[in-house]
Amino acid sequence: MNLKNKKILISGANRGIGKSLVRLLAAEGVHLGLILRKKEDQLSEELQRLGATSVVQFECDLTDLDSLKSISSQLELFNPDILFNNAGLLTGGLLEEQKWEEIHNMLLVNVHALIYLTRLILPGMLQRKFGKIINHGSVSSVMFFPCASTYAASKAAVLAFTESLATELENTGVSTLLLLTPGVKTEMFDQIQPLYGKHIEMKIPSVVPEVYAKQILDAIKTEIGVLSPKGFTGINMLLARHFPLIFKKLASSKFRRD
Ligand SMILES: NC(=O)c1ccc[n+]([C@@H]2O[C@H](COP(=O)([O-])OP(=O)(O)OC[C@H]3O[C@@H](n4cnc5c(N)ncnc54)[C@H](OP(=O)(O)O)[C@@H]3O)[C@@H](O)[C@H]2O)c1
Repeated sequence: MNLKNKKILISGANRGIGKSLVRLLAAEGVHLGLILRKKEDQLSEELQRLGATSVVQFECDLTDLDSLKSISSQLELFNPDILFNNAGLLTGGLLEEQKWEEIHNMLLVNVHALIYLTRLILPGMLQRKFGKIINHGSVSSVMFFPCASTYAASKAAVLAFTESLATELENTGVSTLLLLTPGVKTEMFDQIQPLYGKHIEMKIPSVVPEVYAKQILDAIKTEIGVLSPKGFTGINMLLARHFPLIFKKLASSKFRRD
């Protein structure tokens, strides 16, 4: 896809992977729509300096349906060519150790808001017979580690939703891109060890957000449907998907309850 002057709507662009990606997108000369919890003037200025044709910010807490509804008509008017559901929250630990409020908020952001925004934006794309929905899954969409029960449930839902939608959208001019993201060194990545480390031995390799953002940009341009990890993580993901019992045994050997 040629990105010049395309309208791109993205959530969670104020830090992490989202911020690295909007910097690259800005340099492609796109119109950016940013869904943020709090507006950030400096971010818009930076993105315009980098080459964005325009930047508009929509203030929204994605855990709050009223907040989502309050910006819905503005988002429909923005009428993006690409919607990137990127914002996410991480939960982890033994299930009984996780706070319900945190699980609930994570599901609201990772699943509920993602489906809500896709449902909102898709009709405009279908009318124009053009568009792309990008959903941020994870290796946890496929690799079900202990201590990741709730987060993995959310990301498996993202995979199921996106794969199902991809088939519905065949020959409509609208496509999907599912990101099965491996470790990327962001604030979320730094939460993994404190949340999971007590019960599971994990040495997760990671790349910096700038490197992963470039992979996402290339995936958009080359129109692939799924961005999967390569190398060791990629092999483990294939094992989890095609030989789940072997993967479960491996995961179990790294887990201790006490
Ligand atoms: N990093 C990894 O290793 C990794 C691996 C697999 C998948 N992913 C996925 O990649 C995506 C981006 O994660 P990241 O690593 O870049 O994480 P991050 O640095 O923690 O950024 C998360 C983003 O989501 C936004 N967000 C969270 N809750 C929100 C809410 N209620 N309303 C609006 N925005 C909200 C945050 O905004 P605030 O600043 O306002 O909180 C922030 O911009 C997530 O979907 C994550 O699950 C990450």
